[in-house]
Amino acid sequence: MTFALLLTAVAGLLPFTAGHASIFHPSMWGFNVTAQTFPYDNRPVAPLINYTFDEWWFHGHLDHPPNDGDFFELPAGEPATAQVACDKGATTFFASDPGGNIQNGDDPCPGSPPAEYHTTGLSDVKGCALAITYESDVSQVQPEDFTIFSVNQTCVWTRFTDFQVPARMPACPEGGCICAFFWIHSPDSGSEQNYMNGFRCNVTGSTSNVALATPQLPRRCGADPQNDKPEASPGNCTYGAKLPFYWFQAERNNMFEGTYAPPFYNDLYNFLDGAQEDIFADSYPNGLPSPSPNSTVVPSPNLYDVAATSTPFAPSITPVFSVTSSSSVTPTPPISSSSAVTPLANSTSTASLGAATTAMCKSTLFRRRQQRRSISHGPESVADVMAPRVASHRELQDRSKLWRAF
Ligand SMILES: *[C@@H]1O[C@H](CO)[C@@H](O)[C@H](O)[C@H]1NC(C)=O
Ligand SMILES: *[C@@H]1O[C@H](CO)[C@@H](O)[C@H](O)[C@H]1NC(C)=O
Ligand SMILES: *[C@@H]1O[C@H](CO)[C@@H](O)[C@H](O)[C@H]1NC(C)=O
Ligand SMILES: *[C@@H]1O[C@H](CO)[C@@H](O)[C@H](O)[C@H]1NC(C)=O
Ligand SMILES: *[C@@H]1O[C@H](CO)[C@@H](O)[C@H](O)[C@H]1NC(C)=O
Ligand SMILES: *[C@@H]1O[C@H](CO)[C@@H](O)[C@H](O)[C@H]1NC(C)=O
Ligand SMILES: *[C@@H]1O[C@H](CO)[C@@H](O)[C@H](O)[C@H]1NC(C)=O
Repeated sequence: MTFALLLTAVAGLLPFTAGHASIFHPSMWGFNVTAQTFPYDNRPVAPLINYTFDEWWFHGHLDHPPNDGDFFELPAGEPATAQVACDKGATTFFASDPGGNIQNGDDPCPGSPPAEYHTTGLSDVKGCALAITYESDVSQVQPEDFTIFSVNQTCVWTRFTDFQVPARMPACPEGGCICAFFWIHSPDSGSEQNYMNGFRCNVTGSTSNVALATPQLPRRCGADPQNDKPEASPGNCTYGAKLPFYWFQAERNNMFEGTYAPPFYNDLYNFLDGAQEDIFADSYPNGLPSPSPNSTVVPSPNLYDVAATSTPFAPSITPVFSVTSSSSVTPTPPISSSSAVTPLANSTSTASLGAATTAMCKSTLFRRRQQRRSISHGPESVADVMAPRVASHRELQDRSKLWRAF
């Protein structure tokens, strides 16, 4: 059953359209926007396609700000757990939803038959991301100001979705920061849909005051077999701070990919799973090379002793499903631990690709894989119970990716 068919099948029964999703939190713009607030359906979960700038920017919700004092907290070096759902009624914030409480465990879209949802959902899982700007006045924020600081490549999949916050995030200005959730799903799950929801955020527990680097346009550089590109081209990647994708709108796009080749928040654009630890002004002390399709130059960041949960161009390894259960919201170990492997910290030469670096990457990946293995045998994982087939399928995919990339 295709996702489109599934939607048709369940649309009549549900108060929302399965497959459309957004983050939900009182700190967001549009928290109380319902299907009736606008002349068209502009709920936070409604996809944004071919819209004017005012319509898509912050989902057109700038006149529906959060209440004073509501911030989404981003603990430096730790995960922030967000709720991603197809309907506010499926979140702990159901009380202000006209449809009431339809929460169902970790299910982001209750009402979709789980088997169908997860089978078809697998191909839909392309990753979502959080971006930040160190500005408190939303009227000053421009698309060029957002930097992606955290990616969850297995989003949208569970309601409670963890976003690892980089350890070196500096503190926000007095009025807090402004963040946004971004998601683009796979082309076989519908049309060219962008998702953006803005919210107020604040970094806590900050230990560094190095600012973020100016974000650059992400580039397509991962393996892309669906589009006749079996091998990754790491020299074509953008490294360091990267902008979100603005795609398929009527105005102010920065991505011009076609309908069947959407940009994704995953390795395809060098958005590694987890915290983006290399986004700071001093992350590449020797500068960055100019990326190009035939380049073999892969720069090494200085991560300043932060354990690399996301070393540039380290492919995602085993899916992290099995590490977490719904009852535990503190899954992965803190990013900075003394046993930390700091693989690419030696950045004396930006052009030091060569055999040595490759060997180092391989052994680091291997070690990290072993580490993950040793902590990833929690049998009570919700995702394991819900989708064992999916988990093993992904693992296979990821393995082959691991070897292909090197
Ligand atoms: C976008 O909207 C314009 C004007 O309404 C229309 O001409 C165009 O075909 C639309 N493009 C897409 C991709 O939907
Ligand atoms: C949303 O609605 C609830 C319930 O009416 C209200 O308490 C809350 O202040 C509203 N929040 C915003 C941001 O308007
Ligand atoms: C993505 O979210 C899931 C569900 O919360 C979590 O298990 C996983 O660890 C997260 N991935 C990363 C890289 O943080
Ligand atoms: C942001 O967090 C910091 C650190 O906890 C705190 O001192 C500051 O008051 C917070 N800012 C806002 C706007 O809440
Ligand atoms: C390199 O990146 C550009 C910009 O994203 C993209 O158009 C091109 O297809 C990529 N080429 C290769 C070989 O990766
Ligand atoms: C990259 O290499 C291919 C194949 O060798 C060649 O056709 C192409 O012109 C090169 N592109 C650039 C930008 O050097
Ligand atoms: C970096 O590499 C150089 C040359 O191999 C070596 O002397 C130096 O100790 C290394 N630095 C670190 C931090 O590993």
